[in-house]
Amino acid sequence: MAELKLRNVCKIYPNGALAVDNFNMDIADKEFIVFVGPSGCGKSTTLRMIAGLEEISSGECYIGTRLVNDLEPKERDIAMVFQNYALYPHMTVFKNMAFGLKIGKTKKEKRDENGEIVKDENGEIVYEVVTDRKGNPKFDKFGKPVYKMRKYTKQEIHDKVYEAAEILGITEFLDRKPKAMSGGQRQRVAIGRAIVRKPKVFLMDEPLSNLDAKLRNSMRSEILLLRKRINTTFIYVTHDQTEAMTLGDRIVIMRNGVIQQIGTPKQVFDDPANLFVAGFIGSPQMNFLPGTIAEENGTYVVSTYGSVTKLSASYAELLKNNAVSDGEIVVGVRPEHFSLTCKKSENSIPARVSVYEMMGSEYYVHCILEDDREVIVRTQVHGMDEKLQKAIEESGEVHLSFVESVMHLFNKESEESLSYQKPAPIKEEAPAVKAEPKE
Ligand SMILES: Nc1ncnc2c1ncn2[C@@H]1O[C@H](COP(=O)(O)OP(=O)(O)OP(=O)(O)O)[C@@H](O)[C@H]1O
Ligand SMILES: [Mg+2]
Repeated sequence: MAELKLRNVCKIYPNGALAVDNFNMDIADKEFIVFVGPSGCGKSTTLRMIAGLEEISSGECYIGTRLVNDLEPKERDIAMVFQNYALYPHMTVFKNMAFGLKIGKTKKEKRDENGEIVKDENGEIVYEVVTDRKGNPKFDKFGKPVYKMRKYTKQEIHDKVYEAAEILGITEFLDRKPKAMSGGQRQRVAIGRAIVRKPKVFLMDEPLSNLDAKLRNSMRSEILLLRKRINTTFIYVTHDQTEAMTLGDRIVIMRNGVIQQIGTPKQVFDDPANLFVAGFIGSPQMNFLPGTIAEENGTYVVSTYGSVTKLSASYAELLKNNAVSDGEIVVGVRPEHFSLTCKKSENSIPARVSVYEMMGSEYYVHCILEDDREVIVRTQVHGMDEKLQKAIEESGEVHLSFVESVMHLFNKESEESLSYQKPAPIKEEAPAVKAEPKE
């Protein structure tokens, strides 16, 4: 278990591509963090820099209190599950899971007179140092203490593998070879191989992306259960916003190597920092309408397609904090936040239905506005007015309206939200201890 700190982390690939630009974040111990964003936005690169599989071009990465920039992956106490996990086909599930334990040696812990493991002030395990016959510590040619190394015993490996298999529900497959298992079961073996090592930080790069939709849904809930059981720090990469919303304590939304917003699923859904986040989170995506904003005596009025909304005092307060002035804006309304009627009302926007998608309990109604812009409206089928149902099914005239509280307003040029209150920059503490790489 460990906390992580990333400070101004950048990655420039040898070909000059800036893949990650000034990544700053504090991750708490046992937090489940999801990196999400479109293909090529730098999610895997960031994860691989944390894992030590990719060099950090500039900036610092701390795991616990240790600066790990120069540490080898195996010295970082992390485990990673990749999208294209490779199981050894000639080995049984048991051997696949035990593999990492067999080749990886572990240091012998120092124990006190009661047999308890000795830890230092940072909670790190203190390892026993090799001594000569007189009890003096031995040093290597670089003047570093020589640690005792020990492999796990057969019994320890057995116990660890069975414990992990139990957690993942694959105990009955331990004697099977991977080819005799389904995709989801193999995926669990790949995860099991990482769990047996009891890492401080668990990194997963799109671990479910090569499963079919149904299996992905069930594995998603298994990951939630797994997280409860092994209770360690997780960083999970996906480009699927549903996966991000359902799994993450906090989500990091990235675009072109730059963090767009960090927040809980509710925060990023309710209060997206900019147009990109607003469009990325939520399905179907938020509708964007051209509009204007005008301020008079501290009161803001928003207009779009003839619909005029006076903002509440609390909404106006947020806008004042951001020094919003009159001008053209983008008004965002989520599909589920429009109400659809056949009757025109004072503030409604006229539209014509083009097509509709029957989703079971809901319709996704595609509506065309006066300037041919399309908006999507989600509406419940149950209890729907007959006239409205007819209008939807027969491409009739409808009227859209929305209330002030569901409106998202964005600056047309900068694309930033007019009401978003930027979080304070991460404050710096005393420098952490630099971990020396082992020779
Ligand atoms: N080894 C490399 N050399 C040069 N450029 C690279 C290398 N690996 C990745 N890139 C570039 O860095 C950027 C970020 O790539 P990265 O793999 O981190 O994206 P990603 O967010 O994980 O995308 P995906 O969802 O497709 O996996 C991309 O523009 C990519 O082309
Ligand atoms: Mg990737």
